[in-house]
Amino acid sequence: MFVSDCLGVNDQGHLTIGGCDTLKLAETFGTPLYVMDEEQIRRNCRQYRASIETCYQGRGLALYASKAFSCKEICRIVREEGLGLDVVSGGELYTAIQAGFPAERIHFHGNNKTPQELEMALDAGVGRFVVDNDTEMECLDRLAGQKGKVAGIALRIKPGVEAHTHECIQTGQNDSKFGFTLENGEAFAAIRAVQDAPNLCLKELHSHIGSQIFEVEPFLLATEKILGLMTRAKRELGMDIPELNLGGGFGIQYVPADQPVPIGAYMEKISQVIAEKCREWGLDTPYIYMEPGRSIVGQAGITLYRVGSVKTTPAQDKETGDTTRTYVSVDGGMTDNPRYALYQSEYTVVAAQRAADPAAERVTIAGRCCESGDLIQKNILLQKVSPGDVLAVLSTGAYNYSMASNYNRIPRPAVVMVRNGQPRIVVQRESYEDLIRNDI
Ligand code: LLP
Repeated sequence: MFVSDCLGVNDQGHLTIGGCDTLKLAETFGTPLYVMDEEQIRRNCRQYRASIETCYQGRGLALYASKAFSCKEICRIVREEGLGLDVVSGGELYTAIQAGFPAERIHFHGNNKTPQELEMALDAGVGRFVVDNDTEMECLDRLAGQKGKVAGIALRIKPGVEAHTHECIQTGQNDSKFGFTLENGEAFAAIRAVQDAPNLCLKELHSHIGSQIFEVEPFLLATEKILGLMTRAKRELGMDIPELNLGGGFGIQYVPADQPVPIGAYMEKISQVIAEKCREWGLDTPYIYMEPGRSIVGQAGITLYRVGSVKTTPAQDKETGDTTRTYVSVDGGMTDNPRYALYQSEYTVVAAQRAADPAAERVTIAGRCCESGDLIQKNILLQKVSPGDVLAVLSTGAYNYSMASNYNRIPRPAVVMVRNGQPRIVVQRESYEDLIRNDI
């Protein structure tokens, strides 16, 4: 009935996650609160593994993109499920290492890694550096040489493919800040340049075309283009590049209208394209990587808020024609979920104590920051709510905690992981002392 398998409604009509009553969770741990269902995260990890097993003879590895949600516990869960990890900063790398994640299964991303971060990653022994530009290539070659190491690298390629998604999260088009452009020969020049870098070993070509994508076609197109580049490297430079990274970006369900492509169907098509093109162009089929972030954790998470006030004000709503607007103000907002403010993202919102009732009233959910744009959702249908009620915003497991801020000196909420009906804190709620910890 809801957008996620882990959600349900109990005898009292309360929303449940992983068998836990959300009202009890709100009472026990306070609000705002992020809650994540561990089983769903594990199921999602297993689906990626199974699809590689079934469609690609197991010759690949899914790397969880930890930017979607990074903390020590998620690193432990993903490690147990046998996935690798994509990190994009020294902070994400540090978190993974502290959680005991095997460094050789980590890919290090980023369009502007600092020399300090590169050194840290070299010392940790990360598996792949996904090199974004010439400056980074030179710097990494030099640093690896100083340490007497050879760094395994991937090159981030912009395949010139536009995915249909919000423009802020498109990355495969030529005018993107990420990577080497394929179309103007820059990518090929970068491959050639690796030949002159004695401390780098080119293992992989990488493309990531964007996020929250619902079609398979742009992925297939990008894959074909990257395989074309591999073919050129083989023919003109005699270089065999053994690995292909397909990136992440698989869409999830925020509202019922969102219809994600099942991962198995995606893998089947991608595997077919790889097999066909490799046969046609005389390439060995590469080992593959995928980098799902949102689709591992997004639908496994919800955010619980408590309603502080409900007020109706005069309005002139152009979309609905309404002459009044009902603001339901909650005890969080853009500090724990900036996605509506940034991308006008849609969410499903449920009144936790009457989750099975029809959503009949049109309301706007407002956060508590000093910003008119601090909204969680505008003009959505919700069950009747009053001050003190608990609201659940669904599918907030990805890019919510990881994008949270302390604007207005609002402490970040705790993260609770639920398993077999048992909740446990995996990230503590920030305290006021935490907020001034670095103040002099
Ligand atoms: N690999 C690379 C190189 C990426 O840049 C990303 C996401 C991923 C993998 C994972 O993509 P996913 O499977 O999660 O779609 N803050 C935005 C999303 C930004 C995505 C950034 N890169 C949002 O809240 O929608």
